Amino acid sequence: MYSAIHDAIAAWYGAHGRRDLPWRTHRDPYRIWISEIMLQQTQVKTVLERFYFPFLEAFPALADLAAADLDDVLKRWEGLGYYTRARNLHRAAKLCVTSLPQEAAALEALPGIGRSTAHAIAAFAHDAPLPVLDANVKRVLSRFFAREERDERILWQDAYALLDTRRPYMYNQAMMDIGAMLCQSRNVTCNACPLQSGCQGQNDALRYGRAKAKKSVPSRHRALLVLWREGKLGLIRSEERFLHGLWGFMQSPLPLEGRALGSFVHRYTHFHLHATVYEPADAPDDERLVWFDRSEIATLSLSTADHKALALLDALSS
Ligand code: ADE
Repeated sequence: MYSAIHDAIAAWYGAHGRRDLPWRTHRDPYRIWISEIMLQQTQVKTVLERFYFPFLEAFPALADLAAADLDDVLKRWEGLGYYTRARNLHRAAKLCVTSLPQEAAALEALPGIGRSTAHAIAAFAHDAPLPVLDANVKRVLSRFFAREERDERILWQDAYALLDTRRPYMYNQAMMDIGAMLCQSRNVTCNACPLQSGCQGQNDALRYGRAKAKKSVPSRHRALLVLWREGKLGLIRSEERFLHGLWGFMQSPLPLEGRALGSFVHRYTHFHLHATVYEPADAPDDERLVWFDRSEIATLSLSTADHKALALLDALSS
């Protein structure tokens, strides 16, 4: 039904697609999987410049990841955020051991792999005729079919309806590129778009495919406690679900007696941390504290907020 559009997409991808992205120059399921998990919540530029190659250097194959310590995996994930992704990668690698399953349904049964990611891996590694439905593709489809509401069920129907089942690899990569390059949330270039001939939303594109208004997130005001013992800094291991296993400064509500060394804001998805790096007048005696010197801390996995606090301390002591 859409064969003219499919041909236009293929031609556009050949001329303008980001075909040299390093996860698009091979068909290795393991490396495709790693890239898709990183790209779930992190921009292409960041993944490309800082994380994809070092991670694969540390864990070149599935068996290396399965055999690794979780701490080493978290260390390589440091700075990417959403650490559940790293824990799920590790768990999934242990479940598979030698190779990832080929079928999308079996991929989807692994921790951290949702339907769209399962389709991406199966399409990119094995040419499975299945649509990817990430945020970029949702926007393109909402406009193409002029859908004002964001309804997952309808989006999946639309995704299957437009899919080029003969060229799923090219089609899916192209749809992501079209969303990233031509059909952006506040900026559209319909004249350059290979979907233009069938796009029902093009005369009023910004009306369709709007992401839900972001909920305003609460602020948490916390002291990050700088605790010294015999020249070593006291840190604790986080048991919060989303930072589980990472090391960081003990936190305490404010106000608090002591001395503020500096402050910063760190934005998490669900709250904004207004952090004051603080030397308390009374050091808490907490059995979770472990004492490290500066060179030992460099080997630990810390969250980005704790890195900010550490950088502040380094700046003060230099
Ligand atoms: N985001 C998710 N998967 C992607 C891919 N394969 N290429 C570019 N961006 C992506």
